[in-house]
Amino acid sequence: MTTPDTTHAARTSTPAVPMVGRSVPADDAGAIVSGALSYVTDRRASGMVWAAVHRSVHPHAHLRSVDTSRAVAESGVIAVLTGVDVPNNHLGSDPANGPVLADQVVRQVGEAIALVAAVDEATARRAAALIQVEYEPLPVVSGPVTAPDEVASVSLHPGGNVAGTIGFRSGDVDAALGTAELVVEMDTVTSAQEHVAIETPGGMAEWDLGKVTIWCGSQNPGLHRRLVAHALGLDADDVRLISNPVGGAFGSRNDDPVPVYLALLAWHTRRPVHLHLSREETTVAGPKRHPYRTRVRIAVDGAGMLSAIDSRAIADTGPYVTSGRYVLKTSAEMSVGPYATPNARFDGTVAYSNNANAGAFRGFGVPQVAFGLELAMSRAAERLRLDPAELRRRNLLRAGGRHSLYGHPVGHGFRAVETLDAAAEHPFWREREAWAAGSVGPWRRGTGIALAIKGVGMGSGRGDIARARLIVATDGQINIWAGPNHTGQAIETSYRQVAADVLGLPADRIRVHVGDTELVPESGATAASRSMYAGGAAVERVCAQLRAALDEAGAGRPLQEVAAELVAAGRAEYEAEFPLPDVADPGRIPPEALAEYAPHAVYGCSAQVVRLEVNRLTGEVRLHGVVCAVDAGVAINPGATIGQAEGGVAQGIGFALFEEYRVHEGRPVTTGLENYLVPTAVDTPPIETILVPGYEGTGPFGAKGMSEVVVVPTAPAIAAAIGAATGVWPQHLPVTPERLWTALRAADGVVAA
Ligand code: MOS
Repeated sequence: MTTPDTTHAARTSTPAVPMVGRSVPADDAGAIVSGALSYVTDRRASGMVWAAVHRSVHPHAHLRSVDTSRAVAESGVIAVLTGVDVPNNHLGSDPANGPVLADQVVRQVGEAIALVAAVDEATARRAAALIQVEYEPLPVVSGPVTAPDEVASVSLHPGGNVAGTIGFRSGDVDAALGTAELVVEMDTVTSAQEHVAIETPGGMAEWDLGKVTIWCGSQNPGLHRRLVAHALGLDADDVRLISNPVGGAFGSRNDDPVPVYLALLAWHTRRPVHLHLSREETTVAGPKRHPYRTRVRIAVDGAGMLSAIDSRAIADTGPYVTSGRYVLKTSAEMSVGPYATPNARFDGTVAYSNNANAGAFRGFGVPQVAFGLELAMSRAAERLRLDPAELRRRNLLRAGGRHSLYGHPVGHGFRAVETLDAAAEHPFWREREAWAAGSVGPWRRGTGIALAIKGVGMGSGRGDIARARLIVATDGQINIWAGPNHTGQAIETSYRQVAADVLGLPADRIRVHVGDTELVPESGATAASRSMYAGGAAVERVCAQLRAALDEAGAGRPLQEVAAELVAAGRAEYEAEFPLPDVADPGRIPPEALAEYAPHAVYGCSAQVVRLEVNRLTGEVRLHGVVCAVDAGVAINPGATIGQAEGGVAQGIGFALFEEYRVHEGRPVTTGLENYLVPTAVDTPPIETILVPGYEGTGPFGAKGMSEVVVVPTAPAIAAAIGAATGVWPQHLPVTPERLWTALRAADGVVAA
């Protein structure tokens, strides 16, 4: 708590020590590391009831009957709800997103069929287990990735099993492939990845006077309000979401149905309701990264100049589409990476299955397509005996260049060349031959490099807006309410750094509040690498208004005096919004189709170098280090930015080497963290982050988003390093020792024959 301090003048010059660019610790860092900051699922209220979910044990079945009588009769049970109890049983307006609670058909093991509320958690879970469901099994679609022919065989939805397609081409790809000196093809499979946020989904809800308040983790409070309002027939204004700064998300809290379950039970019971999914429940029922099968072909001439990039992708969205079509759009846009080529083509399909429901996951469709493209680039360089960094450099788009598929300008903050060079200048890359020469026995040493871009924000034509609100108190305290929401990335701290520098005031005069829909103006999702960029820009704009008012009142006078005058004059409140820019010129996209392709005006970029050893006899991979060069424009808080980079690389290592949510014939093989491996501290080598100097003219103080792109180059850099070490180029992720051992054996067999 700061006491009013009349010694602060209403200075409007930049403070002696600017806050932007400083590694300020997160405001709640101490509380987080000491465990003092509670999870949202730790919340309790008097009279609270506990909820549990009854879930499908079949991947695809008609529900002949759902008998809740034994559960209802159980002592301590307050309510049992099924689909018929939901006023409008849909998760949003598109039926392809599925029901709130199963409606006649279940399409996934773990699909929610009924909700129970009881006096305590044990009773709720026991009662949920007493619900009797009679199933009539239906044929199972086990996956477009593993069995593409099945896409047409059984329909999970009235319109068939194709949830969406996207096709786009520029130039003449077939002609370029036909005449190229070298064509490199990669056929890749990438697996379903689980977010493994530390706090599993849950929270609390209360119904009061026709309004529902929900405390839960949410990346998209606006969407959650609409989902709840739609299901309950309420006005979105009567739904309040309050979130928490810890717990994590990584994409899993965009369309999480738990807030809807909570609201439904609170509305029905008129009591505070608590629900907390177990790790096992969320592992089976929660969203996953879309598994993909891709085929990428690149055409290159003898000098290493690209003449075509040709990509085909099929994504498995599981039983419902949720964000699948948007994920596929992002794959299409990023399928050409940061490269310039006159001919490009993308054909993609997102298909339904009875596998895990897929959703948003950090990188949002980019890791799946960048893997094959980057591996093909590394392989082409090897075939041409060119430095893989040099092959990429020759083909890079420069700032102000035009996107190879869509033809729109990539922006003046585009820093692919600088980012690649920052990674390639690192000793890991320059000294890769010496590293390889140190191989001993079966341990073969290799080094790999990869590069990626990822658009910042939802994309053009989608009206992507962030907002901020500011109120000055008579004592000179400045309160700012801004979004997007926090998800553990210390966003309030960075917003406050921006505010302090715009206002020219010490940071302790400013408080930033996020994560409450009643107070924070609608600012869109904490997604698409937009929070710092867009939310920061809204904060910058709202503070600029106050700064103008302070300037007008006269610099040098005590802040408290000026603040009191502003309050008295009714000039203490300000609001601002930042609409993310659309591309300046849509290129080959017809203007009316801009929202359909949603190209980006701003891209983040990361280049990574991986140094590793492979045991040629066992297929085991030992990582020795990762260099992560990332272009964040101007990093508002370098410490927080590096934290995001390190976390992203760790998640990329998981995607590359460990993480695979497995389903067999629609039945989960993976059920929790005992059989789903995430990298631990032992598996994660030193990660060196290089913040590439850049400046994004549209962002706050030159900042742009970077938290997703850092997850992308890790897997192709690891696979390229394995290729360099062994001559085997793994194309199926994760590269487990079993998969690599099998591939090494096959390669040895070919050599022996
Ligand atoms: Mo993120 S995958 O944009 O929630």
